[in-house]
Amino acid sequence: MTNPLSIKIHDHLHYIGVNDRYTHLFESMWPLPDGVSYNSYLLDGGDETCLLDCVKIPSVSVFLEKLNEVLDGRPLDYVVVNHMEPDHTSSLPTIVEIFPDIKIIGNKKTVDFLSNFYDISDNILVVKEGDKVEIGNTSLTFYMTPMVHWPESMVAFEESTGTLFSQDAFGGFGTLDGAIFDDQINFDFYKDETIRYYTNIVGKYSVQVQRALQKLGGLDIKIICPDHGPIWRTNPGQIIELYDELSKQETENGVVIIYGSMYGNTEKMAEIIARSLSNEGVKNVRIRDVAKTPLSYLIAETWRYRGIILGCATYNVGMFPPMETLTRTLEKQKMKNHTLGIFGSYAWGGGAVKALKEFADKSGLDVLETIPEAKGTAKEEDMAACVQLGKEMADALKEIYG
Ligand code: FEO
Repeated sequence: MTNPLSIKIHDHLHYIGVNDRYTHLFESMWPLPDGVSYNSYLLDGGDETCLLDCVKIPSVSVFLEKLNEVLDGRPLDYVVVNHMEPDHTSSLPTIVEIFPDIKIIGNKKTVDFLSNFYDISDNILVVKEGDKVEIGNTSLTFYMTPMVHWPESMVAFEESTGTLFSQDAFGGFGTLDGAIFDDQINFDFYKDETIRYYTNIVGKYSVQVQRALQKLGGLDIKIICPDHGPIWRTNPGQIIELYDELSKQETENGVVIIYGSMYGNTEKMAEIIARSLSNEGVKNVRIRDVAKTPLSYLIAETWRYRGIILGCATYNVGMFPPMETLTRTLEKQKMKNHTLGIFGSYAWGGGAVKALKEFADKSGLDVLETIPEAKGTAKEEDMAACVQLGKEMADALKEIYG
């Protein structure tokens, strides 16, 4: 009889992950309209068994049902903790309670996390770069991938089948609805959610992602088993290429205009800039209201497009607060390869444009010269400045993309 709950990846490996359709905000910040999967794998070495990463605690009963189905009464000998973030470890104490003799495989940084998060300090097998651990008739080799996504993050490689257990790397948002493999899905459904996951969760560590990609480039990878999203058994190159592009911050020809406006004066300027961009032939132009569009999507779009234009109304002699939050977030994203335009408005004393200029000066991005600033609603000269800003952005894009 086939196992109805777990899914066989190959003769010695089963998928026993779970879908989360109950969490509204990942890390209490990032919307999950299409949910997320917490992937977990059971490696069967014959005499010995090994779990690779766990799942978030609310799903523990589904997880245990799948695990027990594959174990079929056998003990669980090892659990690999590739990444300590609780979406993968909050069910670990339950596993340890059920299998008190289990050995936990982690690195020296994992040890501190295990103690601080779960008061676990026994039966830990500490591995370092390149260490190989035999699991019955198979083995796992470990490679450190610090800051992809936490300091202790590491990956495991099973050489005989070329299977990489990559934890957060090569993952994305979106539940696995029936299909789990790349050749069973339409990746178009997942691509935007993978980009949003990358830019929201891992983007700021892109330098470390590039380091990890170079290190893993030497392995003969045939299957990628990440901790979120589809398993890549047919075309792992597709997800490696997407992560490579995202971590190199290869931007697209297009512009996202994000405005903060309370009564429409700054929004009016955004519309004029967008018209100017369109008149100059720029086809990918998106306008977003910073107060309405979740930060998660704004981060993904600013990462994606070469052109970013930020416009802000003055509020308490500074930026409209949602724009202040956005600019602070963008500062931490360590973004590059962007051209930045800024504009704004005020009612009696300025402040927003001055604050945007300070952000622009610190950003390290190419900043456009014209900075429209309207007192109240945009007048003729302000509208002309908005048209000019759009033209300068279009010219900058033409220089790069032709
Ligand atoms: Fe999926 Fe960084 O945890």
